[in-house]
Amino acid sequence: MSENQATLNIDGKTIDLPVHSGTIGPDVIDVRKLYAQTGAFTYDPGFTSTASCDSAITYIDGDEGVLLHRGYPIGQLAENSSFMEVSYLLLNGELPSQAELDDFSRTITRHTMVHEQLSSFYSGFRRDAHPMAVMCGVVGALSAFYHDSTDIADPVLRKISSHRLIAKIPTIAAMAYKYSVGQPFVYPDNRLSYTGNFLRMTFAVPAEEYHVVPEVEKALDRIFILHADHEQNASTSTVRLAGSSGANPFACMAAGIACLWGPAHGGANEAALNMLREIGTPDRIQHYIDRAKDKNDPFRLMGFGHRVYKNYDPRATVMQSTVREVFQALNVTDPLFETALRLEEIALSDPYFVEKKLFPNVDFYSGIILSAIGFPTTMFTVLFALARTVGWVAQWNEMIADPGQKIGRPRQLYTGPTPRDYVPLAQR
Ligand code: CMC
Repeated sequence: MSENQATLNIDGKTIDLPVHSGTIGPDVIDVRKLYAQTGAFTYDPGFTSTASCDSAITYIDGDEGVLLHRGYPIGQLAENSSFMEVSYLLLNGELPSQAELDDFSRTITRHTMVHEQLSSFYSGFRRDAHPMAVMCGVVGALSAFYHDSTDIADPVLRKISSHRLIAKIPTIAAMAYKYSVGQPFVYPDNRLSYTGNFLRMTFAVPAEEYHVVPEVEKALDRIFILHADHEQNASTSTVRLAGSSGANPFACMAAGIACLWGPAHGGANEAALNMLREIGTPDRIQHYIDRAKDKNDPFRLMGFGHRVYKNYDPRATVMQSTVREVFQALNVTDPLFETALRLEEIALSDPYFVEKKLFPNVDFYSGIILSAIGFPTTMFTVLFALARTVGWVAQWNEMIADPGQKIGRPRQLYTGPTPRDYVPLAQR
């Protein structure tokens, strides 16, 4: 980190604050000593101007619509790589050799089964429970089953629990789906790829042969790549904050899943498809555009806008072309795709969306693909959680391995009552 300085005048005092530069991206003003030197805090609800850590994993240039994992553009990874390879890259920093990739895939594959007793957890949930509710509970419960890998001070155990999480999350997600539709759980088949295995665990039934459609496997694998990591987003920051206290990784992932569920974050893919269904036909689009622009209406265009991207989300570009591939492979169409394309066109020519730089994000087209593959909308955010687990795990590992790591403990601008005396109940 190269050094520069910013000067701050406060209460007649002048202090110098170090300014650090990363390899690319905006500089950061280091305010760590601010409170000690001035008695003041910085104030940044929603962290719109705050870097919470340094990280070498993922870089986003929101103005240019750039997303890099360990330096590699997301478009190149989506086109040429596999989810297993991207997982290795996120965790280890470099693309693997063939031998390293084989070894990593073998390790993940060997961990795909879950403790048999974990399956009894599912029957405690209502059949109509949202699968994200089930995911929060079951992933949180993993620490009770894999207690032998929860010593976070041991790098070997950290690696084992990381591999367990990446390997078991598809099994857990598929079981959540199977439980909701009343079908028996399907055990992993380790002859299949990570994504092929997940498709089989989700859609196979014991009564029939199941064949993975290669084009669908490839498309879903690409969707997993597109969701694998995204810098310090809300759920990743949640995982880091939970982990900063020394909580075990299984508990941290459950915290991440809970945060991801919100409609402003991972829940937007479900909300986006529900919105497209509500809109229905292109002739009704303008009404919804008008609602999205109305300050007195809480309605927002789901799958539109992003805290960081003020340009087209590069993941949405890949997603849009994947819709066509999946339709072709499955020989299906969905009129909602036409509605989505038209909605995008109308929104992007409307001054409200242009001025606020609101573009389609990763969630805008993903639901159309997932729905064509056969996933119900309630599973969309589960798939996001499945893919994001590797990002959470990589970010958690990076944080724990940092010798300067501290518990995350933000401060506040207090606006409550000043000190006052307790009034006995009889006098109130
Ligand atoms: N529809 C209509 N207006 C919008 C939208 C939208 N989707 N998104 C933002 N705006 C307006 C907002 O009303 C505000 O207007 P004004 O300045 O007049 O008050 C302005 O744009 C800035 O919005 P903001 O809420 O201050 O921006 P933010 O950075 O806090 O929020 C966001 C980002 C993603 C939460 C928001 O754009 C949104 O709610 N989008 C819809 C939900 C969605 O698609 N989320 C998925 C994000 S990508 C997947 C992921 O990473 O999880």
